[in-house]
Amino acid sequence: MNDSRLPAGRTHADSTMTSIPTIYLNGEFMPLAEARVPVMDRGFLFGDGVYEVIPVYSRRPFRLDEHLGRLQRSLDGIRLANPLRGDAWTALIAQIIAANEGEDQQIYLQVTRGADGKRNHAFPKEIQPTVFVMSEPLLPPPAAQRAQGIAAISAADNRWHRCDIKATSLLANCLLRQRAIDAGCAETLLLRDGFLTEGAASNIFVVKNDVILAPPKNHLMLPGVTYDVILELAARHGLPHQARDVLEEEVRTADELWLTSSTKEVLPIVRLDDKPVGGGRPGPLYAQMLAWYQDYKRAVMRSHVDA
Ligand code: PDD
Repeated sequence: MNDSRLPAGRTHADSTMTSIPTIYLNGEFMPLAEARVPVMDRGFLFGDGVYEVIPVYSRRPFRLDEHLGRLQRSLDGIRLANPLRGDAWTALIAQIIAANEGEDQQIYLQVTRGADGKRNHAFPKEIQPTVFVMSEPLLPPPAAQRAQGIAAISAADNRWHRCDIKATSLLANCLLRQRAIDAGCAETLLLRDGFLTEGAASNIFVVKNDVILAPPKNHLMLPGVTYDVILELAARHGLPHQARDVLEEEVRTADELWLTSSTKEVLPIVRLDDKPVGGGRPGPLYAQMLAWYQDYKRAVMRSHVDA
């Protein structure tokens, strides 16, 4: 097979035969098992880096410009120059998609400040950032989760005040998500000073009296790419919606709660802290939004094919 999008020496057949994912690290493509970074990398020592997770459907990245725009804002937020230009990111992501198996993939990319000779909190002067891109299979959420919903717990949001930066330092998020897993639940909803911020790895929407409520984008939450899709779909279909501060009380008395992320799309939360949300089943607006979301995805993919 001779496919110009593939990195030199790699073909779909290679990855099909070996099933070993091909990754990109600092200018080179290689099997995941061979990738190495120095232990002095500031990503390893300090979590000094940013990342993106980009869904790929039918080998096409979904909302790529929005993900790359957020990557730039994250890099600006940690004062790190973007190591690649926009079109170089686009080309690199296309190569990784082509080099890996599966029509639907999730691209994980990460940029850290790089490795220095000694450990020092202050930024070293002349080091090269570390650039890592990999692909993993993207599976839709299990049908049962869409049909029956998922359970969540709530917790105090004890993260820093720059949650708008998609930073690799995710220790607080990991601890918060694990609390949900330990309780037999799927996600932890975060509350700060009596207001909803987001989930440990997702954005959260509240439906009350047929109005969709979304916490406003600010430094206390990650501005989700999926969050934007949901609000755009609500606007397009004339569904009342408000991006505004959402009180804990509104979360606890919601008719419906939804979770959104690039890998989970939109899922209904039907139990919160062991109590039913609304009727304890996925609500009618969820079913409607999921259908719009699927239609929208199909339309975007069709427009790529036609183009
Ligand atoms: N996380 N908020 C947080 C804290 C997140 O980690 C995520 C996604 C989101 C949703 O953003 P988006 O719709 O752009 O995926 C909100 C990714 C998927 C992750 O860390 O794996």
